[in-house]
Amino acid sequence: MKQRTLGKSDIQVSEVGLGCWQLGGDFGPVEADRADAVLHAAMEAGIDFWDTADVYGAGLSESRIGDFVRRNRPGVTVASKVGRGGDLYPHGYTRQKVRASIEGSAKRLGVDAIDLVQLHCVPPEVLYDGDLLAWMEDFQRDGLLRAFGASVETLEEAKFACTHPDLASLQIIFNLFRQDAITELFPLAQAKNVGIIVRLPLASGVLAGRMTAGQAFAETDHRQYNRHGEAFSQGETFSGIPFETAVALADALKPRVPEGMDLAQMAMRWILDHPAVTTVIAGASRPDQVTRNAAASDLAPLDTALHDELAAFYAEKVRSHVQVPI
Ligand SMILES: NC(=O)c1ccc[n+]([C@@H]2O[C@H](COP(=O)([O-])OP(=O)(O)OC[C@H]3O[C@@H](n4cnc5c(N)ncnc54)[C@H](OP(=O)(O)O)[C@@H]3O)[C@@H](O)[C@H]2O)c1
Repeated sequence: MKQRTLGKSDIQVSEVGLGCWQLGGDFGPVEADRADAVLHAAMEAGIDFWDTADVYGAGLSESRIGDFVRRNRPGVTVASKVGRGGDLYPHGYTRQKVRASIEGSAKRLGVDAIDLVQLHCVPPEVLYDGDLLAWMEDFQRDGLLRAFGASVETLEEAKFACTHPDLASLQIIFNLFRQDAITELFPLAQAKNVGIIVRLPLASGVLAGRMTAGQAFAETDHRQYNRHGEAFSQGETFSGIPFETAVALADALKPRVPEGMDLAQMAMRWILDHPAVTTVIAGASRPDQVTRNAAASDLAPLDTALHDELAAFYAEKVRSHVQVPI
């Protein structure tokens, strides 16, 4: 498993990370044993960057990680988030409440200082106001967090956050169905030495190519209850593409998969081929998914002709279906 440096921080992380939203049960129920097996698989595969948030399973994802780390000492960097829990979102942000929220995460994770705390898709006007980022600077000085970053919805928000002098990382949606970050954001992030953490690499799983148009999901799965943005940004579920369309687009990509990899691995490899990217936090609800996703690190880069083909596929067939502002 190859390592990359997280922006201007001194933190080295595996280029394939683990998304731990699933461990809170928001992709359907995940019992404790299975959550443990997912974390074990990550540890075995050398995945040492784990992304979670206070709101994933109302703290369950963080508690499970904290518990696992206490028992197994895997030597991982854990990133959490602040800004969507309690009564903070959308306009309840005060310095005291944000601090208390981060302290709650630290307690569940069993640490004094959290490795990386990311603003969690706070409303754009709150982000632009700047207070939250200034408070994060203070919390870093106080030793409550080692580094801070921002998870955002749009490229405008990403470009704004990038210009903050102490921001270590940006978390964005970037995948074969969401390619726009390449042109402007990536050069800016590299110039500002901001690490890019890629979420939704598989567009909520549809880019693994195993889903069918009529497929049902559990009532507790956001892929069921947030299809049209009923609970949070529509762009977070299937990358903002209508499910049936996303399945058809994933099927259309299958003939392009090089020999020796599957569609999920091609999707992961395509992301890793962008040097601006620090780590790709693929989410997993089963241990075998973790192992397969980790293997993308050892695969050869995709060739230029395939990169060109995938760029054209996005521009001609995908982009117009994204139903949220990019
Ligand atoms: N606003 C934010 O900051 C924000 C928002 C969303 C996500 N995130 C973070 O980003 C992480 C990744 O995003 P995501 O989990 O939403 O999307 P994702 O990584 O694109 O998709 C994850 C889903 O894909 C399926 N999958 C994964 N690997 C597979 C494989 N090798 N073969 C077949 N299926 C596979 C699994 O579906 P099944 O469970 O159906 O098997 C898994 O739950 C999250 O876990 C979370 O940590 C952050």
